[in-house]
Amino acid sequence: ATEAKLVVSGKMGVGKSALVVRYLTKRFIWEYDPTLESTYRHQITIEDDVINMEILDTAGQLGEDSTNQWEGHVRWGDGFLLVYSVDDRESFENIAQLKNFLDDIKKPRNVSMVMMANKTDLERERIVSTEEGEKLAQDLACAYYEGSALLGDGVISEALEELCREVRRR
Ligand code: GTP
Ligand code: MG
Repeated sequence: ATEAKLVVSGKMGVGKSALVVRYLTKRFIWEYDPTLESTYRHQITIEDDVINMEILDTAGQLGEDSTNQWEGHVRWGDGFLLVYSVDDRESFENIAQLKNFLDDIKKPRNVSMVMMANKTDLERERIVSTEEGEKLAQDLACAYYEGSALLGDGVISEALEELCREVRRR
């Protein structure tokens, strides 16, 4: 069996909790209830190997007072799902910043990381294009997924399972 401690991070309101809950329960949460911190356990099988996932859904602010907390999360985690929302450019710009923090804290180890763009159902509010997302993922050398917690759980499943594969390879 493989233990995979996964941290879901990204700016507040991008849909981290909605994605995690969609993945685990197939339901969509409409209301916005800011997260303090929640962990979930989930088991999957990849190539006959049981993966025990522990998913940490974090609070979305990254500022002075949350830096210590974030550092603790980074030390704890094996893999990171960095989420932004396609209707929020600041959340997109936040990704590179998160990656820098990750590298600072985790060095000299490489980090397992996957990028996820959420809320693609909001087509008319979309500000960050697929091309920009793909380009950043290429720069940061990580896999890129885009989808919507509202529309379904297919993409979030793929993203988390890819992250498990990366953790397993280490
Ligand atoms: P914090 O816990 O504060 O960091 O926020 P979060 O990133 O966990 O966001 P949350 O999942 O609570 O979602 C914030 C709001 O966005 C909620 O009202 C959700 O219903 C909504 N939301 C989340 N995902 C989607 C999506 O894919 N599409 C749309 N249209 N709304 C979404
Ligand atoms: Mg949340």
